[in-house]
Parts: sequence; C-alpha cells; structure tokens
Amino acid sequence: MAENRVTIPDLLSMKRAGQKIAMVTAYDYPTARLADAAGADVVLVGDSVGNVVLGYHSTMPVTLDEMLHHTRAVARGLSRALLVSDMPFMSFNVSVEETIRNAGVLIKEGGVSAVKIEGAGPRCETVRALCEAGISVMGHIGLTPQSIHQLGEFKVQGSAADDASRLVDEAKSLARAGVFCIVVEVVPREVAAVITREVSVPVIGIGAGPDCDGQVLVFHDLCGLNGPGEKRPKHVKEYVDGFGVLNEAVASYVREVRSGAFPTDGHSFHLKVGERRAFFARQRDAEKV
Ligand code: KIV
Repeated sequence: MAENRVTIPDLLSMKRAGQKIAMVTAYDYPTARLADAAGADVVLVGDSVGNVVLGYHSTMPVTLDEMLHHTRAVARGLSRALLVSDMPFMSFNVSVEETIRNAGVLIKEGGVSAVKIEGAGPRCETVRALCEAGISVMGHIGLTPQSIHQLGEFKVQGSAADDASRLVDEAKSLARAGVFCIVVEVVPREVAAVITREVSVPVIGIGAGPDCDGQVLVFHDLCGLNGPGEKRPKHVKEYVDGFGVLNEAVASYVREVRSGAFPTDGHSFHLKVGERRAFFARQRDAEKV
C-alpha cells in the first residue's frame, strides 16, 4: 500500500491481500485529524452529520451546502486517509445531469476522492453515469437511512431469504455499474459474507459482521460521545466513554472557576519588572489627583 495517501487501487489491493480496511466517519477538522492520526484508511463525511452533529432527527434534511461545509473542514484535517463524502438526499435523485454537477462540487470544492450514494436498482444507472464522468462512487445497501420512510424503521435488512438474495443481486449490480466499494449496513452476517465473497470490490460492513473486507463506524458512536438517553445500536462498540470523560473535564473546569482554583498564577501573564514599576507609579499618581 502507498506510504502517503490511501488510494482507491490500494483498497482493492487490500481486499485481494485479505487486509482489513478501517473506515470511520468524521465531520470537522479535529475529528478528521484524530481519524487520520489513528491510521484510518478511509474517512467518510457521512450525511449522519445531520443526526450526529447538527441535531436533526434524520439524515433527510441535510443539504449539499452542509455536506460541502463539513467536507472542506475534514479535508483540511487529513493527510493520509482517502476522503469520501455522502451525497445527501435529493442531491442525486432528480436527474443524472444534476447528480454529476453535485458530485463535481464535492470533488472540486470539497476535495473528496469519491462520493457515496445510497441504494441500488435505479441508482445503478446514476452510478454508471458518474463513473463515465470520471467520478468514483462508493455504493451503500442494506439499511439505507435516506430510505427510512420506505423501510418503516431502523431494523436488520435481508432477514428473509428473498430479501437476502436481493441484497446479493444489488451488490453485484452496483459492482457491474462501476462502484469501487460497497457499504453494507445492518444485514445478517451470513448475507454480508456472501456479498463479500461474490463481488470483486471491497465490502465495508456496519452491523454486517466480521467477514466483510472492512468496517465503518460513526466517530461519535465509537468514541462514546452520544451521552445518556441516546440509543446504542447492537452493532456499535464504544471504545471509550467519551461523553463521560469530557463531561467530567468540563464539570471540573466549572467547579474550579466557581471555587477560584482556576486559573492559577501559572496560567497568568505578568508585566516585565520595568513596565510593572512604571505602571504602578502611574496608578499611584492617578490616584493622587
Ligand atoms: O452517514 C453515515 O455515517 C454512513 C455510514 C454509517 C456508513 O453512511
């Protein structure tokens, strides 16, 4: 694999060599720097930015401008990982021309190497057109949050044999259409394993078991930043109680400000001796008037 930037051919080589691909989402400069420094191969600016960072109830309201804003910040924080950005809902659904134009914005202004598009079926034509326009595309099947109104709820996809076979067919169609990689979200392990075996492009799982070519998790999920009351899906592993750690840090700061323990003299700046003398002499003179 290349020493510097991870490339799309690197990901294909990793699949062929049986080397697992680590992908993580990021939404701003600090999370991008953390993901990159930790050695993530791919950083995705997911439209999950809607729920995770912007406080929307779903990914549906996320706009292309919002994706571009966050993508540019992430791009500034990466030096090694391959950068991919989600095309938000309705940015690739109207016409092929509009889709190519929107993807072009993410590439030219956002600095991404590829875009991700949810769905298969009619989307395969869109993928083909993007690839013909020279734009690399990551597919996304299984639980596709932009289709939440069609799916009804967030639940495992492909649990019935027919649906499982349909997912395998979708993955094959996307691969034929030209995607360089496919995200498979919340499907039974057995189904993801067959998809991974049956397509030549890397398959990145989320809630799809350990047999995929790689894994992706949402940054805030794996860092435990969601806090009390937020749902913790079965497929998420929290590697740190980030909310707890940060909450304790901020609470300590608040306590110390209130008690006067912070700041100390060590956190303060001082006048140089001569300036200090002159300053206090001036103050004394001013007080005499
Ligand atoms: O938007 C997102 O974060 C995603 C990943 C979960 C794959 O699509």
